[in-house]
Amino acid sequence: MHLRESEYDTVPEAANAVRVSEFAVGAEKQNAGNLLSRVRQLLNDDLQAVEQLLERSLASRHELVGVLGQQATGLGGKRLRPCLVLLAAKALEGCADTEYRPRKRDLHCIAASVELVHAASLVHDDVMDAALERRHRPTICSRSGNASAILLGDFLFTRAYGVAASCKSAWVARHIAAASTRLCEGELLQQLSAGNWLIDGRNYRRILAEKTGALCAVSCRLGSRWAGATLARQRALDRFGLLLGVAFQIYDDWLDYWGTANTGKALGNDLQQSKATLPLIRLLESLPAGEREDLLVLLAGESDQQVRFERVRAWLDASDASEYTLAMAGRCVNRAKSLIEDLPSSPAKECLLSVADFSIGRDQ
Ligand code: IPE
Ligand code: IPE
Ligand code: MG
Ligand code: MG
Repeated sequence: MHLRESEYDTVPEAANAVRVSEFAVGAEKQNAGNLLSRVRQLLNDDLQAVEQLLERSLASRHELVGVLGQQATGLGGKRLRPCLVLLAAKALEGCADTEYRPRKRDLHCIAASVELVHAASLVHDDVMDAALERRHRPTICSRSGNASAILLGDFLFTRAYGVAASCKSAWVARHIAAASTRLCEGELLQQLSAGNWLIDGRNYRRILAEKTGALCAVSCRLGSRWAGATLARQRALDRFGLLLGVAFQIYDDWLDYWGTANTGKALGNDLQQSKATLPLIRLLESLPAGEREDLLVLLAGESDQQVRFERVRAWLDASDASEYTLAMAGRCVNRAKSLIEDLPSSPAKECLLSVADFSIGRDQ
């Protein structure tokens, strides 16, 4: 396993004194377009090869299945995980033994496989979250029903492992399977914790490290390993991906309260599904006992979802929950960036650092 238990505990906690500082969110938003074109330019041929591989890996003898698969993986996704694979490989190229000649196709398979795992997890996640919209489109479950969505998610998972297993080294499939296991464990743990408003920050971070961190970690690790990086470098890249993924998810949880229609998914879903995420955890921990009781009554008692969301938002807005959440995401990003600072300078390294900033500055 590339993620050890003890590593969850080293995801940083937010500072007591909350400040939104060095990770200038507004500036990053403006830079998101720039970053995208820099990454596309740098990875152009590789990204195209990954897209082709994705398309081929969705082929089914039943046309309908292929069409559904395309809907789940098609345009609109950010392709964050394939980009992490390719950027990590590029950032590490040149650090390896000159005799080392990996197959380019394997790199593309790693990138396609992690994206397929991601797509499968989203199709299943939307069933659990009863989500109607993703990437500005109706979700698979809302279009084709929960049963079809579950089966399509299974199809995508199995295709992901098929693609991974076509790599020369069995190491790839083993690590992608291990990361997927973590992802499923995290999602399951979150599902089992639904309705528990008093979940603490440590358990919250643990769920995030599993459900989102693990796949980003393995993406960076496998990319760097493909490039022939030393074990120490692979570990640093793994940890970079883990922290980036946690920051990405904390920010996603922030967007669920304070995002805009640009996210392409309905806001307030976490509250609707009775999932306590960091903004609410912070609010509940910081309120005096009497007010906390009032809030818990509201959380348990208000049946009109829109009214509940608006009232909870008003509580959150009157607190430091938003700043606190952004501060914790920012600390994860800063910690992640510090882990790759000593890589030789290159455009790929710069992109990795920018992607880390982007994970908490995006609006979708
Ligand atoms: C959404 O991931 C699920 C989370 C981990 C928050 P992305 O935001 O990377 O999804 P797409 O692929 O870009 O739509
Ligand atoms: C799920 O988290 C992330 C996965 C690992 C699938 P969310 O439920 O917050 O993701 P969104 O908001 O639906 O994209
Ligand atoms: Mg969801
Ligand atoms: Mg979310």
